[in-house]
Amino acid sequence: MMIKWRLCLIFSLFNLVFVFSSSASHLCRPDQKDALLEFKSEFYVQDLYANGRTKSWRNNSECCSWDGISCDPKTGMVVDLYLSVIILNGPLRSNSSLFRLQHLQSLDLSGNNLSGTLPESISKLKHLMVLSLVGCNFFDGLFNRRLRSLDVGRNRLSGVLPKSLINCTHLEFLNVEENGFSDTFPFWLRLLPNLQVLVLRSNQFHGPMSSLGDSLSFPKLRIFDISKNRFNGILPSDYFAKWSALSSSYLESQTVFYIEYYQKSVGLTNKGLEMELVGSGFTIYKTIDVSGNRLQGDIPESIGLLKELIVLNMSNNAFTGRIPSSLGNLTNLESLDLSQNRLSGKIPLELGKLTFLARMNFSYNMLEGPVPQGTRIQSQNSSAFAGNPGLCGAPLQETCGRKAKEKEDEEKEEEEDKTFSWIAAAIAYVPGVFCGLTIGHILSTYKHDWFVNIFHSFT
Ligand SMILES: *[C@@H]1O[C@H](CO)[C@@H](O)[C@H](O)[C@H]1NC(C)=O
Ligand SMILES: *[C@@H]1O[C@H](CO)[C@@H](O)[C@H](O)[C@H]1NC(C)=O
Ligand SMILES: *[C@@H]1O[C@H](CO)[C@@H](O)[C@H](O)[C@H]1NC(C)=O
Ligand SMILES: *[C@@H]1O[C@H](CO)[C@@H](O)[C@H](O)[C@H]1NC(C)=O
Ligand SMILES: *[C@@H]1O[C@H](CO)[C@@H](O)[C@H](O)[C@H]1NC(C)=O
Ligand SMILES: *[C@@H]1O[C@H](CO)[C@@H](O)[C@H](O)[C@H]1NC(C)=O
Ligand SMILES: *[C@@H]1O[C@H](CO)[C@@H](O)[C@H](O)[C@H]1NC(C)=O
Ligand SMILES: *[C@@H]1O[C@H](CO)[C@@H](O)[C@H](O)[C@H]1NC(C)=O
Repeated sequence: MMIKWRLCLIFSLFNLVFVFSSSASHLCRPDQKDALLEFKSEFYVQDLYANGRTKSWRNNSECCSWDGISCDPKTGMVVDLYLSVIILNGPLRSNSSLFRLQHLQSLDLSGNNLSGTLPESISKLKHLMVLSLVGCNFFDGLFNRRLRSLDVGRNRLSGVLPKSLINCTHLEFLNVEENGFSDTFPFWLRLLPNLQVLVLRSNQFHGPMSSLGDSLSFPKLRIFDISKNRFNGILPSDYFAKWSALSSSYLESQTVFYIEYYQKSVGLTNKGLEMELVGSGFTIYKTIDVSGNRLQGDIPESIGLLKELIVLNMSNNAFTGRIPSSLGNLTNLESLDLSQNRLSGKIPLELGKLTFLARMNFSYNMLEGPVPQGTRIQSQNSSAFAGNPGLCGAPLQETCGRKAKEKEDEEKEEEEDKTFSWIAAAIAYVPGVFCGLTIGHILSTYKHDWFVNIFHSFT
């Protein structure tokens, strides 16, 4: 576990160092410089910071060293344009000089005030792999087939999720959070074989998340956040059976690419506002968040297969039945929120074995019995168990003593009754066995003939 995190960190640091060191070491190409300067002049720039990024953009300086720019060290072409939150105002026109930066691989225009629609010219950027338009006011157009990351969170997009995404077979990261999409669950996304992060959070997606006789398989998915929508229906017990990436510790090398990106975009903009989709560092690494929907029925047993899960949030739904003890198999789990459902039964003792589980919430359900003792479960704030009248024991005020004693007494009485009935049964047993065997024998012989007869009458 530790080793894995460190590996991530090393990879991402390596990437960062690589990006920064590469930017200054070569000459800027004049055509690229002109395109950048013209692009800047297309907008009214309302730079919020005194040392704003585009201030360093001057005709008499080396463009590969400008803020927000990275160039390819060999060719001097601009490959990375990072212009988030510098408040560019105005429309992005289809004849924008931006589209002359033909070698762009990564384009981040998040948090700018771009109006109109995203021009189709975006598809001219044939090398584009990361497109981030978080909080810009548009989204439309064609998608580049090479796209690996598409982030259009916090726009005012509506309607259905564009099916043209299906052609982006390299897509690893898709974030459409906080828009007005009103669509059914995009089952077709499972045709994207490389999808690792799917965030549909805070939209108006609706309807069931499972289709009959067709189990959903997202082999590479690591972050699944569909919270705050209107999904409903029951999840079959094998729902998570084919989510291989969440059940194995295998780490793909390219994973680092989007984790780092995720930190930069969704992560940082979310921080302090909502549940930290991002905790600290890489703790969001493997997450399932289905909270704030209308899901019903049992929590699928197969959740216990996702051994690599770190955050699980199923709160604010209408889940019923017991908490599956298979949750005790999620040995890497750090945060579990099952609050505000209709779960009943006891809190499984198995959850006490989860040594990393630091944060949990079982409040507002119909759970009963003692809070498992001597475990990390007890060190939680009592609000994590509130709203379950049947729960007792530390950290709750309600002691189990009285209730348990009453129960014990009941059980004792029952036991006494049972002793009587055992004696009665024993008395009846010996002749009973004899009769039973005889009757059984008669029946089976009879039945045998009867079956044979019926069988013959059909052949
Ligand atoms: C930058 O300067 C060069 C000559 O010094 C000039 O030809 C070019 O037009 C200038 N570019 C812009 C965008 O002003
Ligand atoms: C782009 O088109 C607009 C009209 O749509 C025009 O006003 C503008 O001058 C054009 N810009 C360039 C760089 O050609
Ligand atoms: C964004 O642009 C619109 C016009 O397109 C303008 O009315 C508004 O004030 C701008 N917002 C900011 C924050 O600059
Ligand atoms: C995918 O691309 C093909 C070929 O470019 C095109 O014919 C098809 O309509 C596209 N599919 C979608 C859903 O856009
Ligand atoms: C789970 O999700 C709900 C709402 O979507 C949120 O309020 C809550 O803070 C989340 N729980 C955790 C532990 O982050
Ligand atoms: C939990 O783990 C045990 C032992 O590894 C295994 O036998 C059991 O099938 C697992 N249960 C689930 C639901 O994954
Ligand atoms: C539990 O949390 C509440 C508010 O979040 C706080 O007032 C209270 O002191 C906490 N209790 C314990 C035992 O930490
Ligand atoms: C548990 O969830 C409830 C409501 O969902 C919330 O009020 C409470 O603060 C949470 N407690 C903890 C310890 O997260």
